[in-house]
Amino acid sequence: MVFSPAAFLTGVLALISPLTVNGFVLPTSDTLQAFLGQEGSSSPSHGAVSTEDEGVLTRPSWFTSTLMARRLLALAPSGVITTNFPHSIPPSAHAPSDLAGLSIGLREYIADCEGSLPSDMSHDDNGDPTVLGLRIGTTFKNIAAGSNLSLQLDWWDHLDEAGPVYPGLPLSPAALPRVTLFGYLDTLPAPLPDDAAAALEKCFLESHPDAKVWLPGASYSPHASFWARLVVTHVYWIGGFGDVQQIGWMNVTEWKGIRPHGSVEGVGDGRGWQDVRLPGEKH
Ligand SMILES: *[C@@H]1O[C@H](CO)[C@@H](O)[C@H](O)[C@H]1NC(C)=O
Ligand SMILES: *[C@@H]1O[C@H](CO)[C@@H](O)[C@H](O)[C@H]1NC(C)=O
Repeated sequence: MVFSPAAFLTGVLALISPLTVNGFVLPTSDTLQAFLGQEGSSSPSHGAVSTEDEGVLTRPSWFTSTLMARRLLALAPSGVITTNFPHSIPPSAHAPSDLAGLSIGLREYIADCEGSLPSDMSHDDNGDPTVLGLRIGTTFKNIAAGSNLSLQLDWWDHLDEAGPVYPGLPLSPAALPRVTLFGYLDTLPAPLPDDAAAALEKCFLESHPDAKVWLPGASYSPHASFWARLVVTHVYWIGGFGDVQQIGWMNVTEWKGIRPHGSVEGVGDGRGWQDVRLPGEKH
């Protein structure tokens, strides 16, 4: 099936207005305002993906969106880490020299395990993703050579459960959330104290049982590996289509302050990321 943006828009408008002119379906001015994403009321929606409020399309509040983003991190087993090749690539690197300075995005295993670390080692359960780094991997070579990084997570694998965002219109991955975390990699001490290693391994292997073979310190591991956290400094969110979801930079204090149930003092409204659902999740 060919996706036509014009047909799509016409279809959307048809849903919110019956007025047809010259074959185009035109919304009334107030429904057009709603479609264009003007928040209809001063009270933010507190539903996770609530798109309707007395028939007017509204977006979740920014805090609700940040809860959704933290939930996405908690549920995501992997994400694409983007790094840059160094400005000068040594001949020993086995990479074409004209890649110098260019970026590369590669999918890596991650897990939301910061909260499982003992309190003396942890940044608290603050949304800094845990990364299992492989020294041989291009991502980690670039980081070792000084590259900054970003990590992109998305919910696009859940399209079938999520269904169409507008009734009667095609399924659209573009309607589903994605978030990009900027920051730097903080390598954890090696070897970790036994209690910290055990807690991190238990948490990480829940989503990546296969990684047991190349855990830091694993005997007969094919590759040297290390634990690290991505210390988040900026968060960019695309909740989906801009008329029904937020798009923009998140408040990092809120990102870091959210917990599964509730949040730290001074952040939020008592809800945690366990209190929201992503599109298509069963309640
Ligand atoms: C990494 O980002 C910081 C700013 O956050 C910047 O000062 C530094 O130059 C960047 N490093 C590289 C290698 O681009
Ligand atoms: C970010 O959120 C915190 C906690 O709710 C708030 O105190 C702060 O003013 C917010 N920052 C911005 C730039 O809105």
